[in-house]
Amino acid sequence: MTATPMVEANRVHKYYGSNLVVRGIDLTVAEGEVLCLVGPSGSGKSTFLRCINHLEKVDAGTISVAGELVGYREHNGRLRELRDSEIAKRRSEIGMVFQHFNLFPHMTVLENLIEAPVRVRREKPTEAIERGQALLTRVGLADKADAYPRSLSGGQQQRVAIARALNMRPKLMLFDEPTSALDPELVGEVLDVMRGLAADGMSMIVVTHEIGFAREVANTVAFMDDGVIVESGPPAQVLGDPRHERTRSFLAKVLS
Ligand SMILES: Nc1ncnc2c1ncn2[C@@H]1O[C@H](COP(=O)(O)OP(=O)(O)O)[C@@H](O)[C@H]1O
Ligand SMILES: [Mg+2]
Repeated sequence: MTATPMVEANRVHKYYGSNLVVRGIDLTVAEGEVLCLVGPSGSGKSTFLRCINHLEKVDAGTISVAGELVGYREHNGRLRELRDSEIAKRRSEIGMVFQHFNLFPHMTVLENLIEAPVRVRREKPTEAIERGQALLTRVGLADKADAYPRSLSGGQQQRVAIARALNMRPKLMLFDEPTSALDPELVGEVLDVMRGLAADGMSMIVVTHEIGFAREVANTVAFMDDGVIVESGPPAQVLGDPRHERTRSFLAKVLS
């Protein structure tokens, strides 16, 4: 018996208008695994990530998270889109962290952390606060609970954004270039938090240009170009001894 994968994508296609930007992606992420998705700008990485929590609808193919179809249910062999409330519920089980932190500016750090658990999950504030404080400790910001986002550095804001996502107790975390907007000296503190999450067994898909991080933390690296996964495999193979010329030339650019 094989365990249900955390993410399973089958022949996923996505158009914007007549522009086919995701062209048949197959991919599996096992529970507790880290997949790093690398590739040039415009290759469809963000679009594919957004399909995983149904922020974008796939035009063909299917995605399942923890064995449940994303956005749809099967009825008499046909796919029917879920109701908005069901979509929101499934989406709330997937944490997403973007390049830009998108914290609520008028709320303190701790208020940012408890907003979704209380509003979406209808949790008791006391429980969400207790967990939120523990998460702030975990990301090294225990003393910032009452601070406003604007008073924090970019690296601190991104660590708050990660803690906010974790406070929903997600099954899966998606990161879309979480360090790309940061000053170089702030990248490490965010990667350290992500490294810790991976070590604790969180299932993660990380779009990143941080090749060192991918080499060290990923179970699998997938190189995406022009809407397809050109090659994927263990980091040592894909990053150290790529089979495809497109992968080699991309790596030569980001590593130079
Ligand atoms: N909302 C959108 N509407 C139309 N085209 C889009 C939209 N988002 C992305 N695209 C296009 O889809 C392609 C893939 O973009 P994206 O998924 O953002 O790539 P990446 O994250 O790899 O840089 C690009 O050509 C981009 O211009
Ligand atoms: Mg992108």
